[in-house]
Amino acid sequence: MPLNQSATEPELLLYSPDNRHMARLGTVLSGQASLRWVDARETSARQLLDGASGNAIVLLDYCGGNAAYSTDIARQLATLQAMVPVVGIGTSGPEQANHLLAAMRAGVRDFIDVDNTAVQMLEVFERASTPVLPRAAPSPSIEPATLGRLIVLLGVRPGVGTSTLATHLGVSLAEQHSPQRDGSQPQSWLLLLDLGQPSADAALYLGMESQFSYDEALRNVERLDRTFAGTAFAHHASGLALLGNSSGTLQKKHEPTALLERLRSVFALTLCDSGGLPIQLMPSAVLQNATEVWLVTDQSIGSLVSLDQTMRELEQRGLRDDRLQLIVNHYDANAGLADVQIAQRFQLPLLATLPERSRVLRSNAGLGRLLTEAAPRDPYLKAMVPLLQRLDRRRPVSAPAAPVSPLARLANLLGK
Ligand SMILES: Nc1ncnc2c1ncn2[C@@H]1O[C@H](COP(=O)(O)OP(=O)(O)OP(=O)(O)O)[C@@H](O)[C@H]1O
Ligand SMILES: [Mg+2]
Repeated sequence: MPLNQSATEPELLLYSPDNRHMARLGTVLSGQASLRWVDARETSARQLLDGASGNAIVLLDYCGGNAAYSTDIARQLATLQAMVPVVGIGTSGPEQANHLLAAMRAGVRDFIDVDNTAVQMLEVFERASTPVLPRAAPSPSIEPATLGRLIVLLGVRPGVGTSTLATHLGVSLAEQHSPQRDGSQPQSWLLLLDLGQPSADAALYLGMESQFSYDEALRNVERLDRTFAGTAFAHHASGLALLGNSSGTLQKKHEPTALLERLRSVFALTLCDSGGLPIQLMPSAVLQNATEVWLVTDQSIGSLVSLDQTMRELEQRGLRDDRLQLIVNHYDANAGLADVQIAQRFQLPLLATLPERSRVLRSNAGLGRLLTEAAPRDPYLKAMVPLLQRLDRRRPVSAPAAPVSPLARLANLLGK
């Protein structure tokens, strides 16, 4: 039932095996969009595309039992390299969350909620119609001023405590800026990029699973924007977004230059945990793009040798510069070299000294809890304060924040 279609009105094609949303959509969007049901049981995806106008949007049904069916259709449309935007119709039920990622991977750009108002729906349609960068196109150069900060936590050898530090910092900062405090929608501004080895340590400490991997992000750079990240990346309850390297391999031939640029255009702050990753395996792009590199060590002789080797390697790569900072972890004032002596010896600014807290850290890590929750007054957290203060400079964003899509809101369910 076309509704007074004008040149600017979207042509909505509800492509589903039943027409149960027609009445509701027809009422809400009356006079604002043209709406047509195309029976997916009778019309092939190719036929659908052949009959679609230039401003068509395909709506797929993600309510009730139709979600898997719709994802299948989305894949068919993607195979046909359809240029037409695909938007899902959902409700905020938990069953949605299970299908959300599959939908997005299959090419669904955004979601409307059946209960949305006309304004909300039209906003989503407009956003979905804004062309995403074509895959072949080079990524646009982003003005440095609009890029978020990238802080690389570089553990000089396995086990010095990089992942523990990265997760505690990430959650503390995210909690300080809990977006719900002011009643607004949750919106992530802080990302933990876990490139550490063994992989997925950060996810383990946060009690999360990273559904979407670093490798997948590398393959999807062109699609990566705020909505995509809000949807695909796992989110901790604090709001911290997580992107992990689930495969455990960092392919050096894939320098993540474009990915880092995108991540920094979406997140005001990215903390990169590269604990346990031999410096030789560290992609140069990560170090080159870093706003600061925080070298994490302890007082042990082995770690100090590794710190020395790391500094030499950085020197060779032309990366030994004033972005390098030092953190001494597992610190015991009565054992080994003093923190300031280590800093002097390596001519590095000492950012923080974190005390040895084995028992409390291990016992809580075993329960999947961070000290922020289990022991908020612990000396480890107190010692972290200078680091938090250093990080806690939320850059003014150059562009007004984009509204959070229903898809992103649904994605929050996934993060739980
Ligand atoms: N300040 C600290 N005091 C005592 N134990 C600590 C401290 N920081 C971290 N640990 C413990 O050291 C162990 C290794 O920590 P973590 O996994 O954070 O290190 P990492 O550098 O990321 O190691 P990997 O190289 O294995 O990724 C964990 O058991 C953690 O609880
Ligand atoms: Mg680690």
